[in-house]
Amino acid sequence: MTEKAIALVTGAGGGLGSVVSRRLSEAGFHILLVDVETEGLERIAQTLPGSWEIHQCDVTDEGSVSQMMGRIGNDNGHLDVLVNNAGIESGALLADLSAGDWRRIFEVNVTGPFLLARAALPIWRRTRTGTIVNISSRTWLSGGSDAAYVSSKAALVGLTRALASELGYLGVTSNAVAPGFVKSQLSHVKGDPAQVEDFAQRFMEASPLNRPVTPEDVAETVAFLASPGARAITGEVVHVAAGSQMAVRVKTAAQRRVEQHAAIESEARS
Ligand SMILES: NC(=O)c1ccc[n+]([C@@H]2O[C@H](COP(=O)([O-])OP(=O)(O)OC[C@H]3O[C@@H](n4cnc5c(N)ncnc54)[C@H](O)[C@@H]3O)[C@@H](O)[C@H]2O)c1
Repeated sequence: MTEKAIALVTGAGGGLGSVVSRRLSEAGFHILLVDVETEGLERIAQTLPGSWEIHQCDVTDEGSVSQMMGRIGNDNGHLDVLVNNAGIESGALLADLSAGDWRRIFEVNVTGPFLLARAALPIWRRTRTGTIVNISSRTWLSGGSDAAYVSSKAALVGLTRALASELGYLGVTSNAVAPGFVKSQLSHVKGDPAQVEDFAQRFMEASPLNRPVTPEDVAETVAFLASPGARAITGEVVHVAAGSQMAVRVKTAAQRRVEQHAAIESEARS
């Protein structure tokens, strides 16, 4: 039995998940680091100032999720914060987007958070308190050139609001954090390192605050939503995006290439 408040972070081995885990650990939470890929997770865990556990779990695997949550319920008795952070993206434009990629992106980005929340319900029914923070993306609102990813992040906002409506009677809040572009392992979908750097620069220049968004910026907002100060906030989406959610469109290298080809073809035809 852990007396400390407990926070579970999925995708804890990634760029945002590791920093969110550290920030919540600094806030005093016992951290459950969850990832499908556990290599490197122990190293991240060692940097946390407080206590932690590692759970290897694929968030799309219903059996693994319910087994893990069952163990958490038995061992700890409570789950105070669930951060659904694990997410994937393909970077594929419509012509190259396979139905398999579409399904896989939805499985990880939407079905995973649903499975985690459903599996946590028996714990929350008992404790009558809990907080869900879903990591969406500013693209749910502003759009972007990865149809599966953008659609999945909009669906995740839908799930966030549905859970806010449905679980309020248990004292469970459900909110989403929608980051702008943050450099991480996920960035490779935007091209080679030079293209990622170019995208980051153009993204920053196109953002009203003209500054990059860091994992620490995102973690700070998650920590606030996980704190008692946010107890009256539910069904909300907080954009941590330097203002880029306001319909700023930053094209990826792939998108620019497709548009350049289209322009050349149209010139050749005229
Ligand atoms: N980096 C950005 O620019 C950005 C912007 C907006 C939103 N986000 C969102 O933030 C979240 C974290 O992204 P990141 O940039 O840290 O990516 P990342 O690739 O660095 O980390 C993602 C982590 O999720 C884990 N993961 C993937 N599939 C999983 C599964 N099936 N089960 C369990 N774990 C799984 C990976 O192993 C990895 O550790 C994602 O949901 C992403 O969509 C990122």
